[in-house]
Amino acid sequence: MERYINRGYEFIDAIRLAYGDLEGDYAFVIGHADDDKLYAFKKGSGMVVGLGEGFTCVSSDLPSILPLTRNVVRPQDGEIVTLWADRVELRSVKDGRLIKREPELITESMDAVQKGGYPHFMLKEIHEQPQVGRELLHLLAGSSEAPSRGETRGIQTLIDNMQRARHLYFIACGTSYHAALAGSVYFAQLAGRPAIPVLAPQFIAQYAPAVGHEDVGIFVSQSGETKDVLNALEAAEARGMDCYGLANVVGSTLTKATSFCLPLCCGYEISVPATKTFTNQVITFLYLAYRMAGLDTRVLDAIPDLMEKTIEAVAPQVEQIAGEINEWNDMYCLGYGATYPIALEGALKLKEITYAHCEGTLSTEFKHGPLSAVSKGFPIVFVAGPQDTPLIISGINEVKVRGARAIAIGEEDARLRANADDLIVIPKSDPQVNSLLAVLPLQLLSYHMSVMRGYDPDFPRNLSKTLTVD
Ligand code: AGP
Repeated sequence: MERYINRGYEFIDAIRLAYGDLEGDYAFVIGHADDDKLYAFKKGSGMVVGLGEGFTCVSSDLPSILPLTRNVVRPQDGEIVTLWADRVELRSVKDGRLIKREPELITESMDAVQKGGYPHFMLKEIHEQPQVGRELLHLLAGSSEAPSRGETRGIQTLIDNMQRARHLYFIACGTSYHAALAGSVYFAQLAGRPAIPVLAPQFIAQYAPAVGHEDVGIFVSQSGETKDVLNALEAAEARGMDCYGLANVVGSTLTKATSFCLPLCCGYEISVPATKTFTNQVITFLYLAYRMAGLDTRVLDAIPDLMEKTIEAVAPQVEQIAGEINEWNDMYCLGYGATYPIALEGALKLKEITYAHCEGTLSTEFKHGPLSAVSKGFPIVFVAGPQDTPLIISGINEVKVRGARAIAIGEEDARLRANADDLIVIPKSDPQVNSLLAVLPLQLLSYHMSVMRGYDPDFPRNLSKTLTVD
């Protein structure tokens, strides 16, 4: 742009010419120091423009704008937005012509973008999990009761295609990857159907050259805008793979780019650490596994009440433990089978908002190296699935003799109580549902430790809610 401006072009024409020079996907906001306006343009990435009273704003995703204004414009590739404080204007990159587009009014409830009496969005969103789980299950139930209706017909088609598929891939990043991993455990354990969970960039490097139209992929993303995931989708589509989405933000790129995208029904998730979208992703995978196995999905209706009971039962104890281990900047979180993805997710939450190093790993791997890190008081969380208690107890003893503090999360069990230093009790349920419930104390633990350290869990340093860059 500087080059074009130096040659005498107007600012907006310099953008148009630079647009033609650029390769790859991007979103830019650019302005001149002496000017009263900003310009925004993008290719491939998400962009939303907000129009408030006396201001305008631009962001990579909708939820970040909603606390400010509900009037939005969504620029497309090949368009340049000019933002003044009181208005915006769209022009075509190609010929500079003005594009007329009325602002959209977002009418969904304001509740999602207000803290509703909670000190942080994260705590509010943790407490919203039973309710959004209920709403999701209600929607999913429609698909088994009336499989011919619109959205629900899409679920039936997805299930039919997954039954027929050569290979199944669950593709995502971060927390959504942990849900995908949980999904792969449920598919294998319940439906005897292997599925390959894979981080999106690794999918491109490892599997994309090997996939074809006989394979089915589910691309999982809260925002539906994660660039790594969209890149993987593009690579899969280029190979003719049958691609589906699982996303929370309706209208996001992922929802538009897939033939069918399952909705997560969580409303907006404002806090950077994903909580309610994780549990609804896991519930969706559990539901799909039940359908693949021909099991009665009505069993899952118990989940929301169990989640409510769990949050209520564990909250005071978790807060107390958070205070006791808060001085540690090194921790481990271990799981096995269905609780392995939960241990990974707990570790991610802890490092994301406490800035401590917390590693999640398979409990049986601990003796293969990490054991050497253990010293007196070293906190290690064991997420104990009901069927794996003896294995978990052997892991607990292995670290306790080296002085560690073993914190078990599991159902009431005399053996766990006798061996662990702390037992955080979650209600009795099926092994897969049990694993889902176990994430709730881990979310609360990371929340309290973050607050106790004086951090804002909603907006951890260096991170953003939506990662629209490679
Ligand atoms: C979760 O707490 C993180 N903020 C992060 O790992 C996130 O899950 C990841 O960036 C993927 O985001 P997505 O689900 O919107 O694709």
